[in-house]
Amino acid sequence: MNGPEDSSGNGDAAAGIGWGERLRAVKDLATRIGPILSKEIIHTLDASISYLETGRWLKSEGIVVPKRVESRANVYDQLINALRDQPILYLEFGVWQGRSIRYWSERLRNPDSRFHGFDSFEGLPESWNMLFKKGLFSTNGQAPQIDDSRVEFFKGWFEETLPGYRPPQHDQLVINIDADLYSSTKFVLNALKDYISVGTYIYFDEFCDRNNELRAFDEFLAETRMRFEVATASRSLMYIAFRRIG
Ligand SMILES: C[S@@+](CC[C@H](N)C(=O)[O-])C[C@H]1O[C@@H](n2cnc3c(N)ncnc32)[C@H](O)[C@@H]1O
Repeated sequence: MNGPEDSSGNGDAAAGIGWGERLRAVKDLATRIGPILSKEIIHTLDASISYLETGRWLKSEGIVVPKRVESRANVYDQLINALRDQPILYLEFGVWQGRSIRYWSERLRNPDSRFHGFDSFEGLPESWNMLFKKGLFSTNGQAPQIDDSRVEFFKGWFEETLPGYRPPQHDQLVINIDADLYSSTKFVLNALKDYISVGTYIYFDEFCDRNNELRAFDEFLAETRMRFEVATASRSLMYIAFRRIG
């Protein structure tokens, strides 16, 4: 659909209509259908391109996806089962009401594990897309209540809290990135670069969004030349965990 409006393209002598003319007709039609569609439908159409791109991108990186599971809980469970009794450092970026950090801390019971959650608790710092606007997910500054001394929250924008953060000693790091935005994901990956050693897991919660988490991870791989495998993923590749292998 891209290309100059007046490009004539290849001629199709048999049909008497060139590709350029066909393309112009499709664009014309699209702008006439647009007015009868809702924002939600346009968003869904846009998102469907992202699923295609996610599959294409993984192939282009030579990353194979093992058996896919049904849900986010299944993705978490696969990781949790692999880590079960080890002491781990779990860092979550984008905590909101604490559903994920609670899930992880309730299941990984090693007393030396630590669960650190980072969030402004003021919602998204900028609009994510045409539907999800700045401020979404705000809890009015309130961190969740979790009755577990191993769980700690670092309240503020990542750009403020991460530079001064020093992770406690650990052998196994798990990073859960659920901040939705390209800018936030990019910042987190860069800030943690030196801690992402071979064996580190990085989980993304909206990976199949080509303009945000996928884009930030793609740039991170290009910049660092780190190599990852997929540890586990959901069917749509929305929920996906990578493990550093080199
Ligand atoms: C989708 S919610 C997190 C959901 C949570 N992980 C769960 O499983 O329920 C995204 C969160 O990211 C936070 N967030 C996004 N960018 C941020 C940034 N740069 N600094 C701090 N918090 C940020 C928002 O405040 C929001 O609470």
